[in-house]
Amino acid sequence: MPMALSDLLMLGQGKDLGSERGVSCTGELPHPSEPGLVERARVARAALGNRALVLGHHYQRDEVIEFADITGDSFKLAQAAAAQSEAEYIIFCGVHFMAESADILTSSAQKVILPDLAAGCSMADMATAQQVNDCWKVLEEFGVAQSTIPVTYMNSSAAIKSFTGKNGGTVCTSSNAKRAMSWAFEQGEKILFLPDQHLGRNTAVLSLGLALEDCVLWNPWKPQGGLTREEIINAKVILWRGHCSVHGRFTVESVAEVRKRIPGVQVLVHPECQHEVVSIADVVGSTEMIIRTIEAAPKGSAWAIGTELNLVQRLAKDHPDKTIAFLDKDVCYCSTMNRIDLPHLVWVMESLLADHLVNHIKVDQEVATYSKIALERMLALP
Ligand code: 13P
Ligand code: SF4
Repeated sequence: MPMALSDLLMLGQGKDLGSERGVSCTGELPHPSEPGLVERARVARAALGNRALVLGHHYQRDEVIEFADITGDSFKLAQAAAAQSEAEYIIFCGVHFMAESADILTSSAQKVILPDLAAGCSMADMATAQQVNDCWKVLEEFGVAQSTIPVTYMNSSAAIKSFTGKNGGTVCTSSNAKRAMSWAFEQGEKILFLPDQHLGRNTAVLSLGLALEDCVLWNPWKPQGGLTREEIINAKVILWRGHCSVHGRFTVESVAEVRKRIPGVQVLVHPECQHEVVSIADVVGSTEMIIRTIEAAPKGSAWAIGTELNLVQRLAKDHPDKTIAFLDKDVCYCSTMNRIDLPHLVWVMESLLADHLVNHIKVDQEVATYSKIALERMLALP
């Protein structure tokens, strides 16, 4: 049956406030082409001084990265937030789940601000608390929940991190997924990996040496995840059926095409890419690892990189002595990361200077308590 327009979740209508999609901006944004915008940003940043810390994820636009005090992948930025006790405001240039994690890891006196509330993450939206609770009930019914450890990718809502903390699990990022899964196998016999099936599968198979058959895929839209009782009981890793709408689009064909087009090219991809792509790449690594690999690469070397386009373009600009190509010309920017732009950053900084707190990200206290347990387990991983 066709869906009525009113049934569709409209971005910016505030119909689903728990969603990573967020709501639209209520502020008077400066125009992106305003000639004095960069100067306005400089003045506001200087006036805020130590009262604010600007964190910028590597997938942010250059115009935003220019004003970041610390740049990093989600792990490094979580560490930076946890280590920061001074700044009154943490302006998080990234996506909603990262700002939530920063709120959980900072003191109650500190305020985390996300410059555009519509900067969510489609992957994080692929696992809702209700769906994950339903899955856990099935595991309990089959008697395997006790020996299952949830491992939740940072790219998830605070509610899912809270579920993870409550049930003896840990958060992970792409930089420490191997350590997190090894730790989980020391605590139990089975892992429920949420919500990115690709990171879970790639880590289980390529880093921990499990077989593909040891992993099953839980489809939250099907009864019992679309699995038989036997499949659930026998699995070592239950992967959630979520994916990144950017990294998931790189294909085996794009790897073959770039190898033909650029002789000697090395293919470097993020572990959120599909298993088939990661399996044939030359190097696989988290966002920070991709940056380190290019920095250490010899002059004249050629690389095709499968990760977010803002970062690949910045790497190409910063390393003119190397050939740096984007792995697939048909893959776009992460649309939600890209929502944070200079007008939004200027607007939040000027609002804070006028003592007007905008776009404050505040996680519910009970959710925050259990999420913090899962996040701190990650930060303490050996
Ligand atoms: P990392 O920052 O862990 O590399 O994650 C990539 C990503 O997709 C962030 O949204
Ligand atoms: Fe989410 Fe992928 Fe965008 Fe990261 S790059 S915010 S995982 S959609």
